[in-house]
Amino acid sequence: MDKINLLGNLFPASEEIPENFRLKAPVHQKQMLINGKLEEWNGPTHTVFSPIYIKNHEPQHEIGSYPIGTTIDAHRSLEAAVVAYNSGRGEWPSMSVKQRIKQVEYFTSLMIARKKDIVNLLIWEIGKSTVDAEKEFDRTVEYIYETIKAVKRLNNRSSAFTIQQNFIGQIKKVPHGVVLCMGPFNYPLNETFTTLIPALIMGNTILFKPPKHGTLLFEPLLEAFKNAFPKGVVNTVYGRGRDIVPFLMQSGKVDVLALIGSSKVADSLKKMHPRSNRLKSILGLDAKNAAIILNDADIDLAVKETIAGALSFNGQRCTALKIIFVHSSIANQFNLRLIEEVEKLIIGMPWTEAVTITPLAEPGKPDYLKQCLDDALAKGATILNQEQGGGTIYRSLMKPSIVYPVNVHMKLYNEEQFGPVIPIVPFEDIETPIDYVIHSPYGQQVSIFSQDINAISLLIDTLAGQVGRINLNSQCQRSPDTFPFNGRKDSAEGTLSVDEALMAFSVDSVVATKQTSQNESLIEEILSANISTRLSNHVIF
Ligand code: G3H
Repeated sequence: MDKINLLGNLFPASEEIPENFRLKAPVHQKQMLINGKLEEWNGPTHTVFSPIYIKNHEPQHEIGSYPIGTTIDAHRSLEAAVVAYNSGRGEWPSMSVKQRIKQVEYFTSLMIARKKDIVNLLIWEIGKSTVDAEKEFDRTVEYIYETIKAVKRLNNRSSAFTIQQNFIGQIKKVPHGVVLCMGPFNYPLNETFTTLIPALIMGNTILFKPPKHGTLLFEPLLEAFKNAFPKGVVNTVYGRGRDIVPFLMQSGKVDVLALIGSSKVADSLKKMHPRSNRLKSILGLDAKNAAIILNDADIDLAVKETIAGALSFNGQRCTALKIIFVHSSIANQFNLRLIEEVEKLIIGMPWTEAVTITPLAEPGKPDYLKQCLDDALAKGATILNQEQGGGTIYRSLMKPSIVYPVNVHMKLYNEEQFGPVIPIVPFEDIETPIDYVIHSPYGQQVSIFSQDINAISLLIDTLAGQVGRINLNSQCQRSPDTFPFNGRKDSAEGTLSVDEALMAFSVDSVVATKQTSQNESLIEEILSANISTRLSNHVIF
């Protein structure tokens, strides 16, 4: 059987889909959550096709649909969020932190009850392996619990009063206002909730636009949002992003743009806000993280981390290793080991045991990756594992390809491929990878492989001004979620660790007075009368 047919054969016939993972029926999501109501939608819908093709079924497998909302619906969501915030006087922003924590805990319990449905939709909508889809769900729940702990710590720290230069002051964090949350297709649940949950728990009201691929998985959560939060606190926005999101930004009523997506989109959206000084942006954007493998590197370790870094979830991670610089003296050895190990990876459906490579989520991606490969071949590179089928594409499945030697003229040197392609650049002079990182428009992370303390120190000191995180002898990654996750240049704006996300979605509020006995008594009375939510010194356990 030829290589293409081998890939084609991996797609299942209907009866081959394990019982556990079958979608009982397509999910036709016909509701929008606006102002505390699940409104029925009778307008046009977007049909969702799975990247998992079914053998002998033409065309793609339809798994559901969701509303193509209009700017009129988006406007109603926006107004609901503005009214619920009510200049900071709404029920949610003025609720005690303790009560807001309770509501988020309640939401989480409702979310956990729908785990199976959400995980299954992650599998069918974006082709994520069952193991990774479960991990994404569990990591998100863990993130929420860690956020709750962090909010308690923050509350307890900021309940204290500071006395400085005859002033008494209390400094707390208060919400910004209306937050527009948009997550990416590759971690639709996790990355959306790493902005939405901190924004929510700090007292903001939310406009939530799910990603184009990865929308249906939120259907099981609409009821939970409705039941856990006061009306207007969480509102959904559906429809064509290019129409609806500019409309929201141009209204000037969005106070925070929380977007995990492309820098081009973020750039144009920010410019649409009529009062740019009022807009705060929390952005996770493009990245092309490099691995720099020095001549003394442990080759087996570098190969293992390169594979995990470049090919987990088919390379569709913002943190993925997207270009590998290898010292020429070990390039041959490294390449041979890489070919061997890539060949061991299992390609299949999300439920295939120990699978690594699964169908690609974006319909246009296989064609784009083919263009990248053709461009590299035309400019002098080869696909090192071509004999083994590297680079073969059948519908949404692509066998990972190792491309060598990649140079500055190729798309794979400059563009974020976001797929299972490993471009390798040989180098003699350490200035080559350094120059790459310095001149790259992106600055998320880098990985260095070596044991040489001098070389590592030089790279750390040179690159600390270019990227947000430097990984030693390990792949690039976001986790653990308590570490700051950020980026330089066009890769990010703001930092998103569990603690820092709370800062990102809030602003300092200082209550201060001159230290006189009259003012001291005034504050004491307010505290003991327990009549202000803001000026209070409650501790939360
Ligand atoms: O796409 C970006 C994700 O946040 C990746 O998270 O690097 O911990 O897998 P991770």
